[in-house]
Amino acid sequence: MAGRFITFEGIDGAGKSTHIDALAQRWRDHGQHVVLTREPGGTPLAESLREQLLHTAMDPLTEALLVFAARRDHLRQVVQPALAAGHTVLCDRFTDATFAYQGGGRGFDPHVLATLEQWVQEGLQPELTVWFDLPAAVAAERRAAARSPDRFEQQETAFFERVRAGYQARCEQHPARFMRIDASGTREAVWAELAARLEARGW
Ligand code: TMP
Repeated sequence: MAGRFITFEGIDGAGKSTHIDALAQRWRDHGQHVVLTREPGGTPLAESLREQLLHTAMDPLTEALLVFAARRDHLRQVVQPALAAGHTVLCDRFTDATFAYQGGGRGFDPHVLATLEQWVQEGLQPELTVWFDLPAAVAAERRAAARSPDRFEQQETAFFERVRAGYQARCEQHPARFMRIDASGTREAVWAELAARLEARGW
């Protein structure tokens, strides 16, 4: 039986990671086998590509190709086997991030991204995508208090407004798959909304 594939998205500083961890714990406590993974990354090859993506300057096409190369390896090695075994896969970012960052942020042609998406995923899509949404200026304030920034986190607020608009566009294209969560409140408020929305689905 196929497992459940859930992805989590948002601009840097949206605070999604703590909620993904909490959700994994909650479902494990209920006896589910949960695979917690991330993109870019999740396999040795994809993690090494992640290092390059976060720290080495490159042109937008190279960036898009590396993101999808990492994704292909991750899907083949981790995600597809886990889903085939009936496990729940929680993935911190997936292809919507490519449309948002490379498409919206960098201005890369979304038609090319859609072609790569088709080649790499062969029709596989998440069952649910939780989008932690907040204004770029609020996320920038949160990031300022955090660790030293990588190549994406160093971008100006206008870049993240374009990324956010990229997520909004994907949300409008895939309304049945997307769950938008207002991430501008406290951590407790965001968790309460997420938990309530999932419970409303019977999850
Ligand atoms: P993370 O810090 O949330 O793990 O994400 C790493 C960075 O990679 C983040 O700034 C967004 C970026 N990214 C892309 O630009 N394109 C993608 O397809 C993915 C998955 C991430």
